[in-house]
Amino acid sequence: MNITEKTENNRDSQGRRIDYLRISVTDRCNLRCCYCMPKGIKLCEHSDILSFEEIESVVRAFSKEGIRRLKITGGEPLVRIGCPELIGRLKAIEGIEEVSITTNGVLLREKLPELKKAGVDGINISLDTLDREKYERIAGFDRLGEVLSAIDEAVASGIRTKINTAVMKGINTDEIKALAELAKDRDMDVRFIEMMPIGFGTDFDTADNEEILERLKAEYPTLSPDESRHGNGPAVYYRAEGFKGSIGFISAVSKKFCESCNRMRLTSTGVLKYCLCFEDGTDIKSILRREGLSESEKELLLREEFRKALEKKPKEHCFEDKNKISEKKEMFRIGG
Ligand code: 5AD
Ligand code: SF4
Repeated sequence: MNITEKTENNRDSQGRRIDYLRISVTDRCNLRCCYCMPKGIKLCEHSDILSFEEIESVVRAFSKEGIRRLKITGGEPLVRIGCPELIGRLKAIEGIEEVSITTNGVLLREKLPELKKAGVDGINISLDTLDREKYERIAGFDRLGEVLSAIDEAVASGIRTKINTAVMKGINTDEIKALAELAKDRDMDVRFIEMMPIGFGTDFDTADNEEILERLKAEYPTLSPDESRHGNGPAVYYRAEGFKGSIGFISAVSKKFCESCNRMRLTSTGVLKYCLCFEDGTDIKSILRREGLSESEKELLLREEFRKALEKKPKEHCFEDKNKISEKKEMFRIGG
């Protein structure tokens, strides 16, 4: 089979090459971050969540339509038993070049050996504050210590590690410098992510990454653009003299990067989503669970749905006009 030939087809209606799939493996989480999953939310039935076999079938089919890189997300993906094993299985699929994970870090120390063994290509760890009490206020539990030690172990393991900080006005903008400094002595990127008006994120004001960059430039006059490629996403990177890692900015709100969008999302309940901003999606689970279809028939249907999704993917998000945002689900249900 000639895979290179097939990748020529993975263009959406805007001509963007879609080769990156974010897969949410669970809506469960061991934290309760205020902007994602505050206490009292309702979780879905276990039977609605795709099995590992089902996820593998989807990836096998989509890899034949040009999906090359995967991100395993949640909820918190490491709360799902066997998550490292799933990563190993997905990595074994022909055409899949890279599988990385995004985690809150709470269970990371414990899972790191298995993740390494599975061959995970990158680990993104969420960290919004370095203050223990504030961490508990944001995330619902006192887990900062575990997360910080997991960060050091992840870096020491040699796996590409990144920190994701969601920036919220009046909540953690006072810690920008301290967070950025994590990249000083560690070969690891620290990325500031503007809070998007999705789910409970609407309750918070995002900080403006442009302002954060200006403040960091004032602190580190040598901070300058780092053009090397760091991953799959829209982050823009800077590097300061004396820093081992880079500082990244993901500015979905202040600087739309939709024209270079390369992704689709698969929710834990098996919906293929085209854009974070809109509720539209394709029900993939119903194909996976349809009675009387052979594996190869299912694969053809899945591939067809992927190609249709390429046509349906919107040109851009509309975070600037909240009335037009049709996605009303919370982040843990969509996949962070
Ligand atoms: N906007 C931006 N990032 C978000 N996350 C969750 N909700 C939002 C949002 N509305 C990110 C957090 C966390 C990851 C799981 O998802 O930064 O790192
Ligand atoms: Fe892509 Fe939608 Fe994100 Fe824009 S908002 S970058 S189109 S997923």
